[in-house]
Amino acid sequence: MAKAKYVLAVDQGTTGTHVSILDDKLRVVGDAYREFTQHFPKPSWVEHDLEEIWASVETCIRAALKDAGLTGKDLSAVGITNQRETTGLWLREGGKPLAPAIVWQDRRTSERCAQLREKGEEPRVRETTGLVLDPYFSGTKLAWMLEHVKGARKRAEKGDACFGTVDTWLVYKMTGGQSHVTDVTNASRTLLMDVRKLAWDDSMRELLGVPAACLPEIRGSVDAYGTTKGMRSLPDGIPLTGMAGDQQAALFGQACFSPGEAKCTYGTGAFLLMNTGDVPVKSRSGLLTTVAWKIGDKTTYALEGSSFIAGAAVQWLRDGLKVIKKSGDVEPLAASVKESGDVVFVPALAGLGAPHWRPEARGLFGGIDRSTTAAHLARAALEGVAMQIHDLAETMRRDSGREIPSFKVDGGASANNLMMQFQADMLGTEVVRPQNLQTTSLGAAFLAGLGAGVWTSTDAIRKAWKVGKVFKPKMKAEARERHLTKWRRAVERA
Ligand code: G3P
Repeated sequence: MAKAKYVLAVDQGTTGTHVSILDDKLRVVGDAYREFTQHFPKPSWVEHDLEEIWASVETCIRAALKDAGLTGKDLSAVGITNQRETTGLWLREGGKPLAPAIVWQDRRTSERCAQLREKGEEPRVRETTGLVLDPYFSGTKLAWMLEHVKGARKRAEKGDACFGTVDTWLVYKMTGGQSHVTDVTNASRTLLMDVRKLAWDDSMRELLGVPAACLPEIRGSVDAYGTTKGMRSLPDGIPLTGMAGDQQAALFGQACFSPGEAKCTYGTGAFLLMNTGDVPVKSRSGLLTTVAWKIGDKTTYALEGSSFIAGAAVQWLRDGLKVIKKSGDVEPLAASVKESGDVVFVPALAGLGAPHWRPEARGLFGGIDRSTTAAHLARAALEGVAMQIHDLAETMRRDSGREIPSFKVDGGASANNLMMQFQADMLGTEVVRPQNLQTTSLGAAFLAGLGAGVWTSTDAIRKAWKVGKVFKPKMKAEARERHLTKWRRAVERA
């Protein structure tokens, strides 16, 4: 019998790092997860420590290998997937970060974006990058660092400082500082890449004052990014062959290979992506045009609706409001009341993303009276997350002119049955949850395995994808309408 082949996937997410090891039948044989520190130095600022992220990756790789009973030498390839847009700047020599990473949720550049919009820059930004002028993306975060971090601009101009999103940081660290590269899916989230040419765009660089010398090289999603060097957890020489932003990796892991196929991942935020084939579809209503993946010469695009708060709302109920002890407690608490009544929650805890793009919006609980309990708040919070996705799905239907045939979901928070049922009720469409909710890791592992020749076509991933649970809409039209009206009024006030 042929010896099994193993691929390791690093999923570096917003609140934690997850490493899994898959065999060539796409079975998870080992995994490990660690949360790391979120820094909130000022209202609406969110930062990460790049060194802590790196340490969590090393720790998780060790733990996952142990869990699988394997050593690094057993691995055929490594794939990377990551929280997107989060912006870092570090020294090319030695890799010391020049500042804390500015996380995608951080709103410190809201004003800069507003100024650019007032100057009438939005249309050309949209046309070139497929994105909108919002602090969500890396471009204005990098501009902020170049302006505020001592010595950063000079170093960036000389090429002594490297800009990178988390994918770039991890490849840099894994290759012992040899590779300064990114993949097209991550580059498509920076405001700096031409979404058609798949190259850094000089006019966008000039608009944001970003020197070319600090930018990584843009590569495909399956590529030879380098080999491991000097890591604590892995031996030298293991090839890094697959890379994609986490939402794109999840679209791949959900086997959404045909135009019109879509998935929604409920992680820290929730992100709805629809495969639009080899055409970058322009949105008329605030969705993003983004690269889904590039394999060989073939580029696949997606339309994306990004909502910034999903699992983070549950985290906030746990850590901020302290109405639950652990995230898993939210479902029984919410289910302990029959309905949320008049209570409504708009999860604009980091502004409102698509299709509203209102960075200044803030979260809102409404309809509270003396009978309101923690259970109503929990239920309304879950409903609020699902309502945002409802709005995104409606917009996507309109923009793409396609019905979403089946609404595939994944990500940690999709394990919440109550929220998924409510999602199906609001969408009026079946919600389909696969057996394996870790589709992000699956996608990254698969991309890496394609690069290393472990798999030769996408058939294997189609075969490995299995339905876990289907949620059919069952709410009465009247009740659905009531929820929608309550929600729409609240969004206006947020
Ligand atoms: O765009 C941000 C996104 O990539 C973050 O994903 O899973 O960490 O919420 P997640």
